[in-house]
Amino acid sequence: MKFPKIILLLVASTLFITCNSDDSNETPNDDYSDIYSLPPTPFNYSNPNFPETFTPYVLGFNNTPTDNPITDDGVTLGRVVFYDKNMSANNSKACASCHFQEFGFSDNVSKSEGFEGGATFRNSMGFANAGFYSAENFFWDHRAATLEDQVLMPLQDPVERGMTLEGIIEKISALDYYNPLFENAFGSTQVTSDKISKALSQFVRSIYSYNTKYDKGIEITNDIFVDFPNFTASENLGKDIFNGRLTPEAIGTCITCHMPNATPLHFEQPIPDNANQVIFSGAEPDNIGLDLDINVIDNGMGAFLEIESFYGHFKTPSLRNIEITGPYMHDGRMATLEEVVEHYSTGVLAHPYLSAHMKNGEGEPRHLNLTPEESAALVDFLKTLTDYELINDEKFSDPFVN
Ligand code: HEC
Ligand code: HEC
Repeated sequence: MKFPKIILLLVASTLFITCNSDDSNETPNDDYSDIYSLPPTPFNYSNPNFPETFTPYVLGFNNTPTDNPITDDGVTLGRVVFYDKNMSANNSKACASCHFQEFGFSDNVSKSEGFEGGATFRNSMGFANAGFYSAENFFWDHRAATLEDQVLMPLQDPVERGMTLEGIIEKISALDYYNPLFENAFGSTQVTSDKISKALSQFVRSIYSYNTKYDKGIEITNDIFVDFPNFTASENLGKDIFNGRLTPEAIGTCITCHMPNATPLHFEQPIPDNANQVIFSGAEPDNIGLDLDINVIDNGMGAFLEIESFYGHFKTPSLRNIEITGPYMHDGRMATLEEVVEHYSTGVLAHPYLSAHMKNGEGEPRHLNLTPEESAALVDFLKTLTDYELINDEKFSDPFVN
């Protein structure tokens, strides 16, 4: 009696396949493996394996809100949204279209292209340890109060994605493959903007960087002010310049602004335990004398706050992965790290609101006046901050099959 059953089954399934051949959406796989490739048990995002020399330095800097801790399922949902091109008005742009893993989650052009080909106003920013930016605000001008606020803004930006929150909720709700992801992350398939915001923020925050040549150096020495045995002579010279050891009379070298908390302590020996040695993102926006006056199209934080003394102030971005996040500065005006170093060496302009950290005793722009060897060393040092494990890690990569 089995024979006819099989035939029936075969006939039935042939019919089924034929009927559906022009609309494959009606027969999705239960696990949606035809859409995205996700591991059966989610990757571990919530419990990163920080080196012992990393954890104590980042503790006081965490901007994770208590109602949005990183969970493995939350990040998994955020990762899918991040890479989903359906999340733009004409299904052409994902977050990842301007934030590439291979470029430390930034874009390699000075202005990114929006969903209809328009250019973004500023240079796309990389993410590494965004969760340890203690000032909490996001964007070059600090206009997003929190990361949770920030991640919904590109979706609604008229250039970047061109959608409304209602439109996004409707769109995601209509995509079956989100059902299990919302269910796992938030216990129900219901889509809300709050859940989208939380999942995307979790994904961005989960992008930790702690596996660079520099981090290895701290693991060995536990002190950023001694030579790292795993560094070349040039990298160690660059580190000394960065840390202000070469020019102790000049307050305000790189470390002052790019490593909050380290500076006030940086000539004391031994280094207190709470001196931050690993963050590489600044404590606050600042003005580094890129322009001579306020007659420019972008006055950054000052324009947003409508306070003139903050004109020309921009977020002090993380220097982790800096080698691969060029072009540099808020408008992508500098193509190479050599140009950036040249700016600090000879190019700082006397902007009326230039940072106090960028001035000499006479109140004039301070130039480090580095020799060619020192400039090259500083660039070599900056390149020790590239995290190859992060930029090749599958758990942050595009999960979509096509
Ligand atoms: C069309 C290109 C584009 C798209 C698409 C895009 N971004 Fe951005 N992103 C940018 C640019 C440009 C900036 C800097 C803008 C500014 O500061 O004014 C930025 C800044 C950010 C920042 C701030 C980082 C910091 O340190 O302050 C985060 C976080 C971010 N984007 C996440 C996302 C997420 C999540 C998505 C998807 C929902 C997304 N972006 C989509 C171009 C884009
Ligand atoms: C006064 C604080 C301050 C000091 C000192 C300082 N920086 Fe910066 N740095 C900033 C700010 C603010 C920006 C962003 C400026 C902008 O885009 O308008 C920046 C940008 C950068 C960038 C480009 C980042 C990007 O993602 O585009 C690099 C690289 C950099 N700094 C390296 C250094 C080095 C090396 C030194 C020491 C020679 C140094 N900085 C000293 C505040 C500072």
